[in-house]
Amino acid sequence: MHEDDDVREFWNRVADDWHIQIGAAGDSNRILNSDPVLWAFAGDVGGLKVLDAGCGTGYLCRQLRDRGAAVTGVDLSERMIAIARAQHPDIEFRVDTCSELGTFADAEFDLLIANYVLMDTPDLEGAMRSFSRVLRTGGKAVLVFSHPCFPAGGATRSMNGDETNYRWTFPYFERRRRVDPPWAHFTSDFIWFHRPLSDYWKAFKAAGLVVMDFEEPRLTEERFHLAENPRKLASSRARPYSVAFQLRKRIA
Ligand SMILES: C[S@@+](CC[C@H](N)C(=O)[O-])C[C@H]1O[C@@H](n2cnc3c(N)ncnc32)[C@H](O)[C@@H]1O
Repeated sequence: MHEDDDVREFWNRVADDWHIQIGAAGDSNRILNSDPVLWAFAGDVGGLKVLDAGCGTGYLCRQLRDRGAAVTGVDLSERMIAIARAQHPDIEFRVDTCSELGTFADAEFDLLIANYVLMDTPDLEGAMRSFSRVLRTGGKAVLVFSHPCFPAGGATRSMNGDETNYRWTFPYFERRRRVDPPWAHFTSDFIWFHRPLSDYWKAFKAAGLVVMDFEEPRLTEERFHLAENPRKLASSRARPYSVAFQLRKRIA
């Protein structure tokens, strides 16, 4: 079995539960921590051609469309795309893999966003090559993905929320296909791919994408009131859930 098939099968299986998790506006991690950085890195999207790569059920596509972007969503899971189309019939969605993006022409997009996708895709280098190919020269990529140094699935927190322990059962520097037990309302194990942070950086560089900005998204003080309860506030203030990169396609 090709690794993409395994991943596609997994996301098809969890797509309906993912829709419950993300809803119309994104889950609390996105709302509290990463979406503000994503929008700051994306800038004014009005009038831009934007690809939401690994769009899932399409909550971000709708927000991009509402901000004036001409957005296309793409995902390798047929079930994710079926839900996205049902939710947003006026947005274009395609089934395709980020490893190739074979249904897209070169230099089609001004901006590409991949929101919590790269740790879920088996072929990092292939994805970065195709991201770079579909971007115009000087175009921008905003990549948000789970923090590889602090995997949420391996974290335990003390009762008062002050202490967090991360459990590593293998060397951080090794690439590994990981299977985490179900969390929240999910009933299926989660497949994802661990790679050290430097591997991401090298894959960006090899694809001709220059790092313009980098952030470890967290809840900032003026937004503390958005946390649902003290435990979520403490967690968002203390734990890095993700990393965010702003990249630009190098002018040759
Ligand atoms: C964690 S979900 C994030 C979905 C969406 N971006 C969001 O923020 O709600 C990861 C998504 O990436 C998709 N995905 C994983 N590998 C992919 C690949 N190689 N090509 C396209 N989509 C992929 C999955 O099907 C899934 O919808």
